[in-house]
Amino acid sequence: MIQNENDPQRELCELAGALKRILREEEGSGCCIGGDRHHAPQSEKITVSRRPVEGESQISPAYSTLSLTAIQDELGNCRRCGLSQGRNNIVFGEGNPHADLVFVGEAPGEQEDRQGKPFVGRAGQLLTKIIEAMGFTRQDVYICNILKCRPPGNRNPRPEEIAACEPFLKKQLEALAPKVICALGSFAAKTLLRKEVPITLLRGKFHFYQGINLMPTYHPAYLLRNPGAKKQVWDDVQIIMKYLKDRD
Ligand code: URA
Repeated sequence: MIQNENDPQRELCELAGALKRILREEEGSGCCIGGDRHHAPQSEKITVSRRPVEGESQISPAYSTLSLTAIQDELGNCRRCGLSQGRNNIVFGEGNPHADLVFVGEAPGEQEDRQGKPFVGRAGQLLTKIIEAMGFTRQDVYICNILKCRPPGNRNPRPEEIAACEPFLKKQLEALAPKVICALGSFAAKTLLRKEVPITLLRGKFHFYQGINLMPTYHPAYLLRNPGAKKQVWDDVQIIMKYLKDRD
């Protein structure tokens, strides 16, 4: 006998029960509800899984709650702070979405604002050389900044601009779940680590950002002015390389 026939209320109850069971199974597997994470509507961009423990050396990709595409969609044609008025392009970040290593700089400069890509000016060319000296290409790693829009005249980012922009970087880093973050320069390091400590004291050792190893080092723009500091940057990136090699 077909029990649901002519009993819409009962059919609805059974459908609700089936849906609950599916959701419970999805929760158990830590899968993203909705299947395609890149195009899931906002209400479906949820994963249910264990949160990383403070100090844990790495966030597993399974903890990602959003894909990079979804984060970029959410950012949209951002008008959350005044920098939107003077920018030509949002510089979201680029590179390998599965990168083991992510570089985080300060904010786009003139060239980056023009091209919509991070680190493509003179400092960027030096960063590319550093990446290649590490045995990678720019396509192997991911590169982004604390701010996604250029501050006028490359002035220092303001607290309200960081407050508006950083949540997107945080989501990007969560989605990327790299093994190592390399913070380029004092500003990126202090902002991510929430520490008012000079870069000279921060660099040269790993810190933690949301459970991910973070290595602060000098900004390539600083190296252009102080080439003598290249030796210390090389020391820092060698620590990163050794760590990545040991974890292979
Ligand atoms: N300096 C930065 O911090 N980021 C860029 O993208 C370019 C220069």
